[in-house]
Amino acid sequence: MILITGANGQLGYDFQRLFKSENIDFIATDVNDLDITDINKIREFVKDKNIDMIINCAAYNNVDKAEDEVEICTKLNTQAPYELSIVAREIGADFVTYSTDFVFDGTKNSPYTEEDIPNPLSVYGKTKLEGERKVLASYDRSFVIRTSWVFGVANNNFNKQVMNWSKSKDILSIVDDQISSPTYSKDLAYYSWELIKTKKYGLYHLSNGDEASKYDQAKYVLDKISWCGTLNPAKTSDFNLKAKRAPYTKLDSSKIEKIINKKIPNWKEGIDRFLAEL
Ligand SMILES: NC(=O)c1ccc[n+]([C@@H]2O[C@H](COP(=O)([O-])OP(=O)(O)OC[C@H]3O[C@@H](n4cnc5c(N)ncnc54)[C@H](OP(=O)(O)O)[C@@H]3O)[C@@H](O)[C@H]2O)c1
Repeated sequence: MILITGANGQLGYDFQRLFKSENIDFIATDVNDLDITDINKIREFVKDKNIDMIINCAAYNNVDKAEDEVEICTKLNTQAPYELSIVAREIGADFVTYSTDFVFDGTKNSPYTEEDIPNPLSVYGKTKLEGERKVLASYDRSFVIRTSWVFGVANNNFNKQVMNWSKSKDILSIVDDQISSPTYSKDLAYYSWELIKTKKYGLYHLSNGDEASKYDQAKYVLDKISWCGTLNPAKTSDFNLKAKRAPYTKLDSSKIEKIINKKIPNWKEGIDRFLAEL
């Protein structure tokens, strides 16, 4: 039996869809059923349920708010994955959790591999990195999968935000100096699962193929929905953001691609399928 936490989020929802389609037994929980910041509740919850895998899709993802909400962000992104890994070890279950391209400072100009040295610029990135390190040090049957710019049909994301703005605005300004890769949560769930089945535990990068700036991503979505307004390129410094952003954080997914012997589709193709599904 697989336990999914944060199951109402983008990735959690797509894991549910994947497991339903493959007839795999799972228990889907979100904060109202299982608050992952309380290890005693987790211990109590997993009792007598024959759980052999925990997939943690819950997280604190508000990058700017995290600068002011350090405590709750640390609880969710550092302490909770660590405690979930402890419980997984206690019950002999595999453990899977997710991290982010925001662990890097963006000074590189080619895709980041798992060997590159992280240097997060924000509270969000720091708490995620600390979570990764604690999990990997605590339990050798853990997967830590870093991804970037997730979008899916459940919950909110940048694609949906752009589509909403397009309904009420004729002019949009989107930054062209943050580059990474949008990643479809359906692909993230599917290729993660391909990896998890190999039981080759460890740290991995998994994002859709090719690179994009936020401007490229917005332009692609707006063209697809035939928006008639004007899209202008902007700079990160034009906006008064609380958290510092890295200019370049594209993740190199070749380690996972080699292990599962499959090529991860590029982000434009992911957006096409996302729009078709909406
Ligand atoms: N979104 C991105 O762009 C992005 C980028 C890089 C990495 N990632 C990582 O990828 C993973 C999946 O992200 P996602 O976009 O699918 O996340 P998401 O859509 O924000 O979903 C997270 C889920 O966790 C739930 N949650 C919050 N606090 C909880 C708690 N105390 N106990 C249990 N559940 C709780 C949330 O519920 P509420 O909505 O009610 O709070 C939400 O349903 C995360 O580890 C994330 O950090 C995401």
